[in-house]
Amino acid sequence: MDARRFEAVGRIDSREPLPPDGVRLRSGAVVCEVAISADACVRVRMATDALPPDASEALGYAPWRPAIATAYETEDGALALAAAGPLGATSVEIDRADLSLRVRDRSGRGIAALSDFAFAGDGRARCALAAPLGQQFHGFGEKTGPLDLRGHALRMWNRDASVTETRDPLYASIPFFIAWQPPSALGDASVATGFFLDGHAASNFDVAKRDRTRVAIETRAGGLDLVIIPGPRPADVLRRMSARLGRAPLPPRWALGHHQSRWSYGSERAVRAVARALRARGFPTDAIHLDIDHMHGFRVFTFDPRRFPDPPRLLRELRADGFHTVAIVDPGVKIDPAFPLYREGLAGDAFCRDADGRLPPHRVWPGDVALPDFQRPDVRAWWGTAQRALLDAGVAGIWNDMNEPAGWRRDLRIGRLLLPLRPQDLGSIRQAATTDPSQRVPHAFVRNLYGLQHARASREGLERARPRERAFVLTRSGAAGIQRHAALWTGDTFSRWPQLALSLRMVLRLSLSGVAFCGADIGGFAGRCTPELFARWMQLGALYPFARTHATWCKRRQEPWRFGPRVERIAREALRLRMRLLPYLQDLFHQHAADGAPIWRPLFFEFPDDPGCARVEDAFLLGPSLLVAPVLERGARHRELVLPPGVWIAIDDDVRLLGPARVRVEAPLERIPIFARGGTILPTQSPVLHAGERPAEPLVLEVFPGADGEHVLHEDDGATTAHREGAVARTALRVLDRAGGRLRLEIAARRGGFEIAPRPVRVVFHAASSARVVRLDAVEVADDAGLPSVRRNGSRIELRFEDDGRSRSVELEPAP
Ligand code: GLC
Repeated sequence: MDARRFEAVGRIDSREPLPPDGVRLRSGAVVCEVAISADACVRVRMATDALPPDASEALGYAPWRPAIATAYETEDGALALAAAGPLGATSVEIDRADLSLRVRDRSGRGIAALSDFAFAGDGRARCALAAPLGQQFHGFGEKTGPLDLRGHALRMWNRDASVTETRDPLYASIPFFIAWQPPSALGDASVATGFFLDGHAASNFDVAKRDRTRVAIETRAGGLDLVIIPGPRPADVLRRMSARLGRAPLPPRWALGHHQSRWSYGSERAVRAVARALRARGFPTDAIHLDIDHMHGFRVFTFDPRRFPDPPRLLRELRADGFHTVAIVDPGVKIDPAFPLYREGLAGDAFCRDADGRLPPHRVWPGDVALPDFQRPDVRAWWGTAQRALLDAGVAGIWNDMNEPAGWRRDLRIGRLLLPLRPQDLGSIRQAATTDPSQRVPHAFVRNLYGLQHARASREGLERARPRERAFVLTRSGAAGIQRHAALWTGDTFSRWPQLALSLRMVLRLSLSGVAFCGADIGGFAGRCTPELFARWMQLGALYPFARTHATWCKRRQEPWRFGPRVERIAREALRLRMRLLPYLQDLFHQHAADGAPIWRPLFFEFPDDPGCARVEDAFLLGPSLLVAPVLERGARHRELVLPPGVWIAIDDDVRLLGPARVRVEAPLERIPIFARGGTILPTQSPVLHAGERPAEPLVLEVFPGADGEHVLHEDDGATTAHREGAVARTALRVLDRAGGRLRLEIAARRGGFEIAPRPVRVVFHAASSARVVRLDAVEVADDAGLPSVRRNGSRIELRFEDDGRSRSVELEPAP
């Protein structure tokens, strides 16, 4: 076979059943296996000669669960495979002439048409997916550009490249996307279908750019391995996808708070100063990050003895003040014969080597470094154990950076200034193969996995060292499934207005790609941040699933009080809102763990059949209930907003709007417009300075009328892994909206293995001024006296009572 020329796949010349779920087909030298999973996904694997080994289990994906499929022949002579079960049904028709495939869902509707399979002798493989007119393309992991990537060409190749509005590729590659057909003008329902290219070698996606009728997929993986994931709703696709690739484990509660970072707080004095200022100024913050300058000459897992003379004491003091400490851990190990970690790495042959067995020249912050080969389980174990030095000092979480891996060949250092002069080419390195670590493959083949395996080593090390604690790892680079190991942030951004809006799209896109726990540097990493931009970024960033303020050293200081008293107040309010929403955020993470639903959702995710929501990319839903309309433009003091169908109530002033509609909302600098969907029961708490503080009011249920609704409240200890053994308290909540201002809230008896002592609870009925009578368990409650008691507060009615876990009902009635 010609190394460079693609040869198209021709006629099928043999087929054999592959029980229980598939068929194997051959066409000349090409072998193809088609299989259906118990939850109705279709997997197509194809290569010349033999299929490449299946790496998915070595990467920790859940095993493929086969369906019981039947192979047959259709009336027009095509081969077909079909399976049906309680979790879904799918059929595939395969054209004998060229292996073109058509996938149909349970209702017989075509959801994917794949064709033009071709292979070249150098390991490249390609195919095309039909892209019907109007179909949108979402996901693709960490990508810039508009939310719908139709018309764009994308590359999957992890690299260290700062974020611009159009740059591609960036730090993480997730070859997964959702093809979404919006509802038609004729009233046809929308359809979402997921596609996952299971293979981590470099790949390219031409998303109906060169040819408007198709998505062209090309990979260097030595074969094709494509999984087609039926919907019909985006939520169905994500549920199925994440069942296999994994979901974010429940973070420790502190990691859901605000993180404060800077490159760097480079001495104990600097760290104490920022901690003290945050508390003195009343900022709710849970974590402080130590960037590279805490290290001794940038040696990983060390502290500079002069600038950090007593880390255990420092970290103890921080903890006493409610701060958890996160330390950066880059992969490069300084080449220094006196550095024990380097010597250990050499002794264990843990480093990547070039084809001649040498350590390739590679420079990062410490100068020359060796790169551990995280593809090898023994190297990951060694690395995870080496974290001990940090954990013993009291470090709570690990921040993995530069793990694309980033680096250069030559640099120039002038004091603090470092100029990387020659780009790195790691072309000659070989690394352990994913499936068989004793085999070596070119680095390029597994490069996109480097960050994932690094983060995996970090998480596994944390979990081994502290088996009862929930781990927190943050990563810059990643691949499909990174969510199982780490939260991901979008790397080096710029403090520019268009990047504020871009961060919204990037967080949504990562969310749709399975990475639920993600965020961007609040305020922007580089460049000059103006007070107004900081205020708006804080308002949006405080609602990122992962909320961290971070900035480079060579810019104006960017802590939340650096922009004058007005912006300081705005920043504080934004973070107070995050703390108020903490119970809701925790519920969203519980829900994500159960069904893969993301924390941030584009409007079309919740309202796939509303045509008005199909193109919205300047607003999002936080969970199913809160519609957030941030201000993304300089000088703007109001904005336009597409309201999805139903009642929407502003959470700050209870103004009630009705969708679908396009509305204009006021947004003075102090305000980020947020609307609760009618029928929402929003669990909140009174604000605290950090997630470990006991709120004065641990549970406030905020009820928004306008529709019936349900919510499940999850409560746990927020810190340990006991939730895995059932130590979660679940309370089913239901609101019934009866016409004429009558409202009923039902609180079911608390269930599950987490004990909660009796406590006061407050129910706040928003936009409820017409109600007069309040009943608790059918008994009328009077204003203001002890517990239970009622208070009227403008448009709100509040009821306080003692919650002992029994089922309760609350009714609001208008005046008789
Ligand atoms: C990289 C990271 C950035 C960090 C810096 C120094 O640029 O993306 O967040 O501050 O390295 O460690």
